[in-house]
Amino acid sequence: MTNPLMEAYPDHVAAMRLYGPEIHADPVAVYEEMRRKHGPIVPVLLDDDIPAWLVVGYRELHHVTSQPQLFGRDSRRWNLWDHIPENWPVRAFVSWQPSLVFTEGAERKLRGGAIGDALDTVDRIELNMICERVADRLIDEFSGDGRADLISQYAHRIPAEVVTRLYGLPESELPELVKDAYLVTDAGEESFPAGLRVMEQVNRLVAAKRARPGHDLTSHLLAHSAGLSDEQVVQDLMVLMLASHTPSSNWIGNTLRLMLVDDHFSMTLQGGRSSVGQALNEVLWRDPPTQAMPSRWAVRDCDVAGRRVRRGDLLVLGIAAANADPQVRPAAPVHSGANRAHMSFSHGEYGCPFPAPELAEIIAKTAIEVLLDRLPDVHLAVEPERLRWRPSVWVRGLEALPVLFSPAGPLGRRPAEHWES
Ligand code: HEM
Repeated sequence: MTNPLMEAYPDHVAAMRLYGPEIHADPVAVYEEMRRKHGPIVPVLLDDDIPAWLVVGYRELHHVTSQPQLFGRDSRRWNLWDHIPENWPVRAFVSWQPSLVFTEGAERKLRGGAIGDALDTVDRIELNMICERVADRLIDEFSGDGRADLISQYAHRIPAEVVTRLYGLPESELPELVKDAYLVTDAGEESFPAGLRVMEQVNRLVAAKRARPGHDLTSHLLAHSAGLSDEQVVQDLMVLMLASHTPSSNWIGNTLRLMLVDDHFSMTLQGGRSSVGQALNEVLWRDPPTQAMPSRWAVRDCDVAGRRVRRGDLLVLGIAAANADPQVRPAAPVHSGANRAHMSFSHGEYGCPFPAPELAEIIAKTAIEVLLDRLPDVHLAVEPERLRWRPSVWVRGLEALPVLFSPAGPLGRRPAEHWES
């Protein structure tokens, strides 16, 4: 059957699909084929064969993300909304909401600035300590078993536990919030009701902090000179929770995987910590937690690398593809060392806001260092080839990371009462 949208999108007649088993199995190979056939900006079909542009060239991705006035964030300008099914799998990423995510111009500066300033009040040493305690407690839960799945029992649990602790909730309300935050990010059947519960809890928190401010992220956002309303603060705290959780947990998981499978890093997994930073950086090049983002809409007709992009077209940021662009990355496998010019936090006005990448790095680095300290002989329980990536073109994360280690007792060096301080 012919796709009725092709009349309006003639470049997409022979477009490759950005979904399905082929791209899930080996995304880098598919990106390379796309680059070879189409160049740096590729006509692609998203689920249900919805046309979009995938930016796979490094230079072109930099160009698109550097021009917020030409490539906007407000998804309401999409020229295909009339054709998008209600249950479209990508809807959650692109449906407009009154949060920071879809703002532009002066409002973006105000709200993005407030988020950045509030995040900057987080004491880095305290963040490190919170993270150590969370990591120790999680390891205590499985250290006696001699085996664990480092995704579900560790990497996937750390970011939400840490980030929600910055919000200023009473300790007794945290477990409920953290549990619901997992459910929301899991995108299963429970995701929607869990989202409503999180929203209610955050609403109550914002009302309480408006009445009695404290020294926490919520109170800093409320007190910011941007003068945000309670509703805006609720929206943006929700964004922070969701935007931080999955990328950070996949960053931890993908780095643990690299350290367990790659000889270059495995030496240090047995003892030293010196290469944790290097492994984290290597993962941002090779297996970036956010592989692609459907997050820019052309404000007017324009040309990008010789392609005619029309007003309202959707551009997908091909983060993993741009990182692998031979123009910036040699074909032979080399380690990236200290080179931080990857696009994994995106770039420009709508990229991951300062200082979120720095905080994410503290969380990820601490999580890995604590694991190295506690389980020095940790090793894979299966052959590396049996590790499975989750089938997604948007995020890069493992289904599971089964490991074995010598059983050890709980540490108990950071007792529970410290939480109350
Ligand atoms: C403490 C952890 C983190 C926090 C608080 C955080 C926060 C945020 C926020 C508030 C946004 C803006 C949402 C939007 O406008 O779409 C964002 C965007 C983004 N973040 Fe983060 N983030 C964290 C960790 C990470 C990590 C670990 C990665 C990947 C390595 C990442 C990659 C991105 C990307 C690619 C975008 C979007 C960009 C775009 O459309 O240009 N973030 N983040």
